[in-house]
Amino acid sequence: MILLPRHIAIIMDGNGRWAKMRNLPRIFGHRQGVKTVKKIVQAAGSLGIEVLTLYAFSSENWKRPESEIKGLLALLSKFISKELKELNEKGIKLRILGDLSKFPPKTISEVSNACKTTSKNKGLQLNIALNYGARQELISAFTQMQQKGIKNPSEAVVSSFLYTKNQPDPDLVIRTSGQLRLSNFLLWQIAYAEIHITPKFWPEFTEEDLKFAIEEFKKRERRFGGLEDESK
Ligand code: FPP
Repeated sequence: MILLPRHIAIIMDGNGRWAKMRNLPRIFGHRQGVKTVKKIVQAAGSLGIEVLTLYAFSSENWKRPESEIKGLLALLSKFISKELKELNEKGIKLRILGDLSKFPPKTISEVSNACKTTSKNKGLQLNIALNYGARQELISAFTQMQQKGIKNPSEAVVSSFLYTKNQPDPDLVIRTSGQLRLSNFLLWQIAYAEIHITPKFWPEFTEEDLKFAIEEFKKRERRFGGLEDESK
């Protein structure tokens, strides 16, 4: 029997194009994207997913116009201030993947406070990737290992120096808006993940789409480099 994916990681793409198709400024797409975030977090929790990772801001996103970056940070602040109580009540545990130090002090303290407030919860683990880049994450892990004098680390040791420490690796990666790229997302952790691409833009992605991705995942045969199961 193929079980539910324990960890789903999502590249939320297409906010800008969703807005452009409606002749709206890009920030409207991001605003609508936050509504999808709320729905998908709820849905993942009720479906019994253990970990949900959302790619909200990559280390390359600093190249965007300042107004868009400010808009995204404002949406993140609003999301945290409006949703923290409910996230906490639902037992959701928040963790940030990425280097927060580049963000304004206000964002750092809001985000850190939300992680601390929810740290003892036992429900869905919600990871938000912020100023995240997989190569930077690996360089940071190697640097830390070097500083600790760790030579010839095992895979488990490398994993323990990543932002996803103590979490299962993603089983399923979903990317919206039809792009066929991994965009420097969790490159170590998704070594054996199944990939699901949907043409839908993130603002129009629904709980049904999430369920569909999970059903498709269940149909896949995961071999982890081994052979087909001959007992079937
Ligand atoms: C990709 O669309 C989306 C982003 C870079 C940002 C995603 C952020 C949010 C949904 C809002 C904040 C998140 C949380 C967790 C509250 P794009 O702008 O690259 O779209 P495009 O490729 O069509 O231009």
